[in-house]
Amino acid sequence: MKILAFETTCDETSAAVLEGRSLRSNTVFSQIKLHRKYSGVVPELASRAHLEKIPFVLGGALRRAGIGVPLKAGAFDAVAFSRGPGLPGALMVGRVAAEAAAELSGAPLIGVNHLEGHLLACEFEKGRVARPLKFPLLVLIVSGGHTELWHARGYGDYKVLGRTRDDAAGEAFDKVAKLLGLPYPGGPEVEKEAARAKGKGPDFPRPFMPGTRDFSFSGLKTAVSYYLAAKLGQDFYKKGLRLPASEIALVCRSFQDAAVETLVKKTADAARSLGLKRIAVGGGVSANGALRSAFARLEDLETRFSERAYCSDNAAMVALCALRRLEAGKFRNSLRVEPDLGSAGWAG
Ligand code: KG4
Ligand code: ZN
Repeated sequence: MKILAFETTCDETSAAVLEGRSLRSNTVFSQIKLHRKYSGVVPELASRAHLEKIPFVLGGALRRAGIGVPLKAGAFDAVAFSRGPGLPGALMVGRVAAEAAAELSGAPLIGVNHLEGHLLACEFEKGRVARPLKFPLLVLIVSGGHTELWHARGYGDYKVLGRTRDDAAGEAFDKVAKLLGLPYPGGPEVEKEAARAKGKGPDFPRPFMPGTRDFSFSGLKTAVSYYLAAKLGQDFYKKGLRLPASEIALVCRSFQDAAVETLVKKTADAARSLGLKRIAVGGGVSANGALRSAFARLEDLETRFSERAYCSDNAAMVALCALRRLEAGKFRNSLRVEPDLGSAGWAG
C-alpha cells in the first residue's frame, strides 16, 4: 500500500510518502520566517507561499521516496490531503495538488481531518507506524488553532467533549510571547525562557472552568498583560517597553505552569470521569517538555505523545489517517473532495 499525502492547513507546506508501515519521505517547508515579522500567520501570505513551494516540496518527497516523475498510473494506492480545519486559501492549495496527483496516478483521493492527524502522529516511531493506539482513550489536541478534548472509541470514532471558547493553547503561548517581545512562534520561546527562571514568579489564575469540559485561555493571557501593564505602564507594548531578561523568564514559567496545570487537570478529570485509563496528546503544544512531565506524573493514567518531530504540522500524519481509513474501507472513491473547515471524524 503506497500513499502520497499533502498538508497545507496553516504555515507548513508538506508532502509525504508512506509505503506499508514505513515512512519513505516527509518533506516539510516551514513558513515561520515569512510570518515572524508579523508575530503570527498572515493567511494571504500563507496561501501564496504554499502555492510557491508545493511543487518543490512534492518533488523532494517523491525523490526521497525513489518515485519516478512524471507520475505514472498506479504509482499510488491513494492520495490524501488535510481537508480541514485550516485557513481556507491554504487548504485549497493542498487540495488541488492532491487532485492532480490522484488524477495522474488513478488513485482515490482521501480528504482527512488535520486534528485526527495530530492524534495518529503518536503512532510513528523512528519513521515507522510501530506504536498503534489502544482504544478507548481520551484525546487532547493542543495546537496553534485548536484545543479539544475527545473521547476516542476507535479510528474515526471521536466524540468531541470540549473545546476552547476563545484562544487555543498554542495561540495563548504565541500571544504571551508577543507581549514579552519574544519571536513567533512563541511556544518554544516561552518554554526556553521558563527553563531559565530562578526564584518566585507572579501567580496567574488557572482557568479550570468547573462544570464544563471547554477551555478558555484568553483570561490567562489578559492576566499576563495586566501584570506587564502594572510593571511597565499602560502603553508598554506600543512603546516597546520590555521586562529585564530575568523577569521575562519568571513570567514565562508562571504562565506555562498555569497553562499546563489547566490542560492536565481538565484532561485527567475527563478521563477519570469516563473511566478511561489512557490519554493521547497531539498538536504543536504537545512538544512542550513541562506538559509532557506533568502528564507523566499522573500515576493512574498512561499518556502517549508523538515523537517531537511529528508534533508540528506534517504530511506523514495525513498519510497515516488515510491508511487507517483504507484499512477500514471507510472512504469514498472520489477524485474531488471539498475542503472542510469544521468537523472531526470520517465524514466525506
Ligand atoms: O500543530 P501546530 O504545528 O499547528 C497548528 O495546527 O496550529 O501548532 C503550532 C503551535 C504554535 O502555537 C506554537 O507556538 C505551539 O504549537 N508550540 C508550542 C511548542 N512548540 C510549538 N507550545 C508550547 N511549547 C512548545 N515547545
Ligand atoms: Zn496542526
